Amino acid sequence: MNKIILSVKNLYAGYYVNSKYQQVLKNVNLDIEEGKTYAIVGQSGSGKSTLALCLMGLISIDNGKIEKGNISFCGKDLISDINKIRGKDISIVLQDPHSYLNPVITVGKQVLEALEVYNKNLNKEEKIKRVKEVFEKVKLDDFERIYNSYPHQLSGGQKQRVLIAMAIINNPKLLIADEPTSGLDLTVQKQILELFAELKKELNLTMIMITHNILIAKKYSDYVAVMYKGEIAEQKSKKEIFENPVHEYTKKLLDNI
Ligand SMILES: Nc1ncnc2c1ncn2[C@@H]1O[C@H](COP(=O)(O)OP(=O)(O)OP(=O)(O)O)[C@@H](O)[C@H]1O
Ligand SMILES: [Mg+2]
Repeated sequence: MNKIILSVKNLYAGYYVNSKYQQVLKNVNLDIEEGKTYAIVGQSGSGKSTLALCLMGLISIDNGKIEKGNISFCGKDLISDINKIRGKDISIVLQDPHSYLNPVITVGKQVLEALEVYNKNLNKEEKIKRVKEVFEKVKLDDFERIYNSYPHQLSGGQKQRVLIAMAIINNPKLLIADEPTSGLDLTVQKQILELFAELKKELNLTMIMITHNILIAKKYSDYVAVMYKGEIAEQKSKKEIFENPVHEYTKKLLDNI
């Protein structure tokens, strides 16, 4: 077994709606082993994105809060240290690139800015070189043109690659992808998932892949955690979950395929 890099213990979290607190996550426990890919599956509204927001320390931006529990990352308290970790050791790729990219700044500049947050000491030339390397890694060819494009001038798949470039430019240890391919057509979906798999190997990333699609979990993950109504119903190796599902909801998911 590899080292545990992320550990979530007894996590409770939720949102304020009309100043009334509504609990969403209930006693979530999760241990993430270094170098592995974890798929988090579960029906819509089960709390997958809420968990991702907690891991990125972004739940408060969405009018939410962590009620109690612990999250530790590489032995440190993630909840208090998240501002030093976000975008560096842990980064995220979200479902909808349109709402994440700034429409009035070229995508190259946006990737460069993501680098600058943690690399103020690099000179302009070094920074551009690094952006170019990362564009190559995510297979965005035609560097000059893409660098100087605004988001609306790129295809959905290209925009998603730009977001992945931003997410990996500071060499994260853990990459969280929340439904990273759901807005894309099937061929592009497959290309992006293959890209994640290649990057994982090449950069020795640990990945959390949130997906509705149990077939994606089957193909690309090492472990599967099934969320149901704000709890982790079961968390097992992929083989175990497909051969011996225990929770009723997991069985139902598997019946659908
Ligand atoms: N900003 C918010 N304010 C209030 N409630 C929220 C907010 N965001 C999510 N919720 C609620 O929290 C619950 C879990 O939502 P979440 O987005 O985590 O689910 P999910 O598993 O990611 O669903 P999906 O598969 O549809 O993306 C839902 O009941 C949702 O209505
Ligand atoms: Mg979601």
